[in-house]
Amino acid sequence: MEEKRHAGILAASFVKDGMTVGLGTGSTVYHVIVRLGERVKEGLRIRCVSTSEATTELAESLGLDLIPMSEVLNIDMTIDGADEVDRSCNGIKGGGGALLHEKLVADISRIVVWVVDSSKIVERLGAFPLPIEIVPFFHMQLISKLEGMGFSPRLRMSGSCPFTTDENNYIIDLETGFIEDPEGLHRKLKLMPGVIETGLFITTADIVVVGSKDGAKVLR
Ligand code: 5RP
Repeated sequence: MEEKRHAGILAASFVKDGMTVGLGTGSTVYHVIVRLGERVKEGLRIRCVSTSEATTELAESLGLDLIPMSEVLNIDMTIDGADEVDRSCNGIKGGGGALLHEKLVADISRIVVWVVDSSKIVERLGAFPLPIEIVPFFHMQLISKLEGMGFSPRLRMSGSCPFTTDENNYIIDLETGFIEDPEGLHRKLKLMPGVIETGLFITTADIVVVGSKDGAKVLR
């Protein structure tokens, strides 16, 4: 909790007046948004693009100026969380279910900053189950195919119903084991009909801010 807060506060200090800022999703980005809310009250002028309904709700409650994705072609800086990050700044994301919007917002961002606690930094990705966003119509067939590939797929649930994303899709979590070739696995999964996006983010982050008990440091 303290680690996430320290990372969030340092990352929020990178935001400059006049920027368009992408806001990720999750419990670490929460601290970024809270700090940006304070800075806006102190006079910082920014506009923000949200990656999820949860982030929109929080940002609005703190008085941040939100603009729809349909009104931006470029974002100056996006600050987001991650579930695992390796030394090449590849990551697994989607634990919170917002991977599709997060990947799209990152795609048009000049600078992508990830905020994580120290437990998220790994030598090799794959201990965290890999989320993939899929077309609901094809979920049974995809589960069967992914089983055949040895991934032990689990349809993400919310109570007794499948979890649905902000785009009304489903998420399947995959047990991949350690991933030798993150980009290769991403490509292989993306080529499967019915897979909309994977939670593998390949060299997406320009800067990784890692929180510790006493503060935060920049990894890259
Ligand atoms: C949501 C995400 C989050 O950024 C990721 O799950 C990290 O969350 P947290 O900061 O709560 O640990 O990818 O889709």
